[in-house]
Amino acid sequence: MLTVYRLRWRDAWFCWRLARDPVVRENSLDRKKPGPFKHFSWMRHWHNNSHDEALAFILMIDGERVGLLRLWKSIYYPVEIGIAIHEDHRGEGYGAEAITMGRGLARFWFPGQGLHAQIRVGNPASMTVFERAGFESVDVLIGGIVLMVARPQRGAS
Ligand SMILES: CC(C)(COP(=O)(O)OP(=O)(O)OC[C@H]1O[C@@H](n2cnc3c(N)ncnc32)[C@H](O)[C@@H]1OP(=O)(O)O)[C@@H](O)C(=O)NCCC(=O)NCCS
Repeated sequence: MLTVYRLRWRDAWFCWRLARDPVVRENSLDRKKPGPFKHFSWMRHWHNNSHDEALAFILMIDGERVGLLRLWKSIYYPVEIGIAIHEDHRGEGYGAEAITMGRGLARFWFPGQGLHAQIRVGNPASMTVFERAGFESVDVLIGGIVLMVARPQRGAS
C-alpha cells in the first residue's frame, strides 16, 4: 500500500530524476527539461510549507520513493492534481491508487473545492488511471489537453 509524506529537500535528487525523465517531460504541459537552477526554484516553490497553495507529496512503497503527487490552486480551476510515477514502478497499479489518495488529500486541504487534471491527448496511461480513480473528461482545451474533473464520491464531503 502506498504511503505519502510532504516533500522535503532530501527528495531533490529523486525529483530531479523524475523531472528529467523523457516520459514525464513528454506528458507535462511544460516539455522543456529543467536545468539545475530551474529545478532548485521548483524545489523551493513546492517545498515551501508556509503556504498551502501548492502541496507536493512523495509516494512511498516499502520505504522506497516511487512517485510524486502534487495539488495546487491554479488560475483557471479551483484545485489541480498532477502525478508522476518513477519509471521503475510504472504499470504496477500505483497510478490510480495515488490519485485516489490525492482525492482524499484534496478533501482535507481544499475542502469543498473541485479537483481537476489536465492530461495530454496522447497520454492513454494517464487517462486510464484518472478514469479509474473517478475522473471524467469534460473538455478538450487548446493544444490537445484533456480537462478531467473528479466526479463526486458517495459519502465524501
Ligand atoms: C500516467 C502514470 C502516472 C500512470 O502510472 P502507473 O503507476 O504506471 O499506472 P497503473 O499501473 O496504475 O496503470 C496504468 C494503466 O494504463 C494502461 N496503459 C498504459 N499504457 C497505455 C496505453 N498506451 N493505452 C492504454 N492504456 C495504457 C496500463 O495498461 C494500465 O492499465 P491496466 O492496469 O488495466 O493494465 C505514469 O505512467 C507516469 O508517471 N507517466 C508520466 C507522468 C504523467 O504522464 N503524468 C500524468 C499527467 S498529470
